[in-house]
Amino acid sequence: MKKKVLSVLLAVAMTATLLVGCGGSAPAATEAPAEDAAVEEVAEAATEAAGDTALADAKVGVCIYQFADNFMTLFRTELESYLVSIGFSKENITIVDGANDQGTQSGQIDNFIADGVDVLIINPVNSSSAETITDKVVGAGIPLVYINREPAAEEQQRWADNNWDVCYVGCDARQSGTMQGEMIVDLGMDAVDMNGDGKVQYIMIQGDPENVDAQYRTEFSVKALTDAGWEVEELFNQVGNWQQDQAQDLVAKALSQFGDDIEVVFCNNDGMAMGAIQSIGAAGRKVGENIYLVGVDAIPEALDAIEAGDLSGTVFNDHLAQSHNAADAAANYITGAGNDHNIQCDYVKVTPDKVAEIKGFLGL
Ligand code: GAL
Repeated sequence: MKKKVLSVLLAVAMTATLLVGCGGSAPAATEAPAEDAAVEEVAEAATEAAGDTALADAKVGVCIYQFADNFMTLFRTELESYLVSIGFSKENITIVDGANDQGTQSGQIDNFIADGVDVLIINPVNSSSAETITDKVVGAGIPLVYINREPAAEEQQRWADNNWDVCYVGCDARQSGTMQGEMIVDLGMDAVDMNGDGKVQYIMIQGDPENVDAQYRTEFSVKALTDAGWEVEELFNQVGNWQQDQAQDLVAKALSQFGDDIEVVFCNNDGMAMGAIQSIGAAGRKVGENIYLVGVDAIPEALDAIEAGDLSGTVFNDHLAQSHNAADAAANYITGAGNDHNIQCDYVKVTPDKVAEIKGFLGL
């Protein structure tokens, strides 16, 4: 990088000399634009090269709410490799595990500030702590990119009102909930209403309820059914904290309590759907035959499960776009290009006919 900057600076100096040399006799009118363009081009290259050095030298602190989360593991792995691919140095990137404890994470943020990081990428343990985190980080003059757990609208408004270098990168969780519900609706009422009572009996396994992803997926998955004119009955709704083992226990409990009455199992993520698959199998039920199950994320295990007929569908939570957008946003703060305060990407439905395509896209 340093070499590149040097050569570009030399090029600028040479061009300047050349132009000064021409200065004595006024250049012909037709020559001027070409020279201007050359200067502009060189100046642009110099800016770009300076940006490259800025990235290579920049220290990046990344706080993940919990390493023991399969979706966030895909996210952080891609985030690190993409940061390096756009010019950050691997040795300047530090990623820490908040161990699902806001106190631990707040201490990690203090340490990053004390270390003088140039940009922070934060997946908060509690979205409700965003205001405190923002004040601390902005107070230290460090740009901040929130990921995955969206801070409240009022908090985001503060960033805009104060013109702070703070943004959120994620997807709209309402869309993922709606897509889960639509995949069930697309199966048709006749197929889903197995007991023929004219309504759909479902159970809901929620992620961390403090998180808008869990709140919206819970609300909008069911709303897609009622929006289609379907009558629904909720038999069970409990918190599995995004975790496979907790969901496995909850679904086992629900199946022993409600048995064949359960027609649909909604899980707020695939990790929990993997737990549901274990309990559905153990109860002698078969997805697609006498029960339906949907998740969100499109983790590799879930894609395999759809192919095996153990999962009715999932929704791709695009960790590639989100991690790339987050890294690009960090780079834009470093180079001074700046960012919008809210950067979104779309979810994608993954029904059995789409698994091969999505696997191809993910290189699986
Ligand atoms: C969600 C994802 C979950 C979990 C959660 C953590 O977007 O679907 O699997 O990773 O984020 O906040």
